[in-house]
Amino acid sequence: MSRQRRLLAREAAHLAPGASEEAALGQRVFVAGSGSTLTDADGNRYLDFAAGTLTQSIGHCHPEVVTALADQAGRLWNVHDSATADRAALCELLATLLPAELDTYAFFTTGAEVVEAALRVVAAVAAPGRNRVGALRHGFHGKTLGARMLVHWDIGHQSFAGNSILGYSPYCYRCPLGLRYPSCETRCADLVVRHIADKPQVSALIFEPVLGAAGVIVPPPGYWDKIARACRDSGVLLVADEVATGGGRTGAFLACSWLGIEPDLVLLAKGLASGFPFAVLAGRSQVLRGPEGAAAGSTASTFGGNPLGIAAALATLTVIDRDGLIARVPGLAAAMRAGLDDLHERHPMIGEVRGAGLLFGLEIVHDRDSRQPAPELAGQVYRAGLDLGLRTAMGGHILRLAPPFTTTADELDEGLRLLDRALSLVEAGGR
Ligand SMILES: Cc1ncc(COP(=O)(O)O)c(C=O)c1O
Repeated sequence: MSRQRRLLAREAAHLAPGASEEAALGQRVFVAGSGSTLTDADGNRYLDFAAGTLTQSIGHCHPEVVTALADQAGRLWNVHDSATADRAALCELLATLLPAELDTYAFFTTGAEVVEAALRVVAAVAAPGRNRVGALRHGFHGKTLGARMLVHWDIGHQSFAGNSILGYSPYCYRCPLGLRYPSCETRCADLVVRHIADKPQVSALIFEPVLGAAGVIVPPPGYWDKIARACRDSGVLLVADEVATGGGRTGAFLACSWLGIEPDLVLLAKGLASGFPFAVLAGRSQVLRGPEGAAAGSTASTFGGNPLGIAAALATLTVIDRDGLIARVPGLAAAMRAGLDDLHERHPMIGEVRGAGLLFGLEIVHDRDSRQPAPELAGQVYRAGLDLGLRTAMGGHILRLAPPFTTTADELDEGLRLLDRALSLVEAGGR
């Protein structure tokens, strides 16, 4: 029996069910990561085109992050939310990376935690009677109760709709209105705008600018212009959940900047600290420093902004900034797009390829006419990819690809070649 099998069998006796589809299907035990490559317990190597879980923007175990964490680990781990030597430096660096108006920050640990923090701010600053929040269909914001209130699709448990109001996301491939872009003139956005106008109780719209978990749903031109203008006109705060997209994934530090949205609050996590749990709430000072939003203790938590997280984030963002890594994203993305378009031409099970910078979603379908989702085929491609040495991300019928920004041209070609083989194997019924 392989070492991986033995390890999996040992933990299976005790481990609660509820793993991600990726972990459950993959059945891998990883022991090491370096750059774009992972190694499992049997010595097999993988190109990691999931970048951890969108966390490894500068690859696995970047030497400067390892050194920063090791140094910090020998010095100081937790002093609640007291100031530490690096915190000021991180604030200053964030101020250079984010749009000038987003100049105030609070530090947390996970995506869901920072979503909850944003909800607390929204509740605190909302005018009397504005006691509801808007969210988008197909959005994903985490699994804590406040975040679940914004998620209206089944994420493995019952959805829990709570006190939020939903608008249409720009899911053109499966348009709920049965329309086609551009002749639709982004009617989905018009309906969100109408919602905002009709519902004066709405205090904020909490949204993913590009909807990641639902399959990299990329808004067409015009969608956000209309909605952002309506929010501004109605005094509805724009709260951008950039947990997945923030930190350069789309080719700009924020997907909002890439799309021309000027948010009031932004939530960042995955790509900030090379996989160390770390999240940032960034906002306009008039929102975060106002008397309502700044209650004592409102930004403190046991692990929020701990010195190790700050060290990992400071080192990661320093590397991204100094090495101009975000500037690499458009070139890599164009090469990847060309390769994926070629796969789309040759593999009918790929219904559509969507991309925003180095974040791609592939619709896996039974046939292109019906567009019927094919989650079992997606699972087979995912598994075949792993067996060949390519790690992707998947959920339902969507395959996602998001390699590190440091991926080389050769690694990109190799990953696409492995994906091609995985698709061919599944088509041939070999999986
Ligand atoms: C957009 C978005 N928001 C929030 C979350 C929740 O983050 P976490 O898993 O760190 O709680 C995720 C996780 O995938 C996400 O993609």
